[in-house]
Amino acid sequence: MINVKNLKFTYDTTKELIKDLSFKIPKGSWVSILGHNGSGKSTLAKLLVGLIKAESGDIYIDNILLNESSVDEVRKKVGIVFQNPDNQFVGVTVRHDIAFGLENMQLPHEEIVKRVETYAKLVGMQDYLKKEPFQLSGGQKQRVAIAGALAMHKDLIIFDESTSMLDPEGVLEVTNLIKKLNEDRNQTIITITHDLDFALLSDYVIILKDGELLAEGKPQELFLNKELLQQSKLTIPLGLQIYLDVIKDDDLKNNKKLVDALWTYNLKT
Ligand SMILES: Nc1ncnc2c1ncn2[C@@H]1O[C@H](COP(=O)(O)OP(=O)(O)O)[C@@H](O)[C@H]1O
Ligand SMILES: [Mg+2]
Repeated sequence: MINVKNLKFTYDTTKELIKDLSFKIPKGSWVSILGHNGSGKSTLAKLLVGLIKAESGDIYIDNILLNESSVDEVRKKVGIVFQNPDNQFVGVTVRHDIAFGLENMQLPHEEIVKRVETYAKLVGMQDYLKKEPFQLSGGQKQRVAIAGALAMHKDLIIFDESTSMLDPEGVLEVTNLIKKLNEDRNQTIITITHDLDFALLSDYVIILKDGELLAEGKPQELFLNKELLQQSKLTIPLGLQIYLDVIKDDDLKNNKKLVDALWTYNLKT
């Protein structure tokens, strides 16, 4: 689905923000891109949808090389929910905002109405369709942005820290929604996050550090490497820290029941 080869990007000549990055993302998978603040995650997301242009390297989406002549075709396949929902609210009301992308796709009116209602409901915003952006909280705008992206039925959806403004209940709802989309519809998903607990739910993880690929692999395997996590400057959740300490302790690690219980606890969100 995605093949990134030797990608490099810089805003100005002084600092390379993405340094020779290569990775692949298979169709139907849920991949988390992890990294602390400033590691280049949002920049990478913008590169993947062709909003900014790489200095060198190639991005293939479904075997299409992303460039100026293919960018429109690629955008038909890739949807993105940006980190800051204020910057992407384009409609006068919630209804218009969710409908915006659908109107651009020139779908029939009845289909637009149907999708707006379906997806507003999916994110719990069905009672807010007539509201204007100033009447909404950050979390509510984030939900609207998610509905708008999902309604377009793209092959790949990138969520850039899309739960950052939600309360714990909202985080759980959106997390479950992403899980369900991936499991039931085989939707290819990239979630950008600095939350290890959240990344633990995805199939595969790519860890960025200062624009470079620090590590990649299954979260269940990568997250056992405490040194790696410390190196990535990500905050290790308490539950995972306890687990890692227990499996290192000769006396405790043989207690299978304890080890299993702690691991199961970590997998619960
Ligand atoms: N428009 C811009 N011009 C110059 N530097 C930028 C711009 N946007 C982001 N940066 C810088 O690029 C680095 C990586 O940013 P970003 O990709 O947003 O990281 P992340 O999403 O991982 O927090 C940061 O140091 C940030 O200050
Ligand atoms: Mg970011």
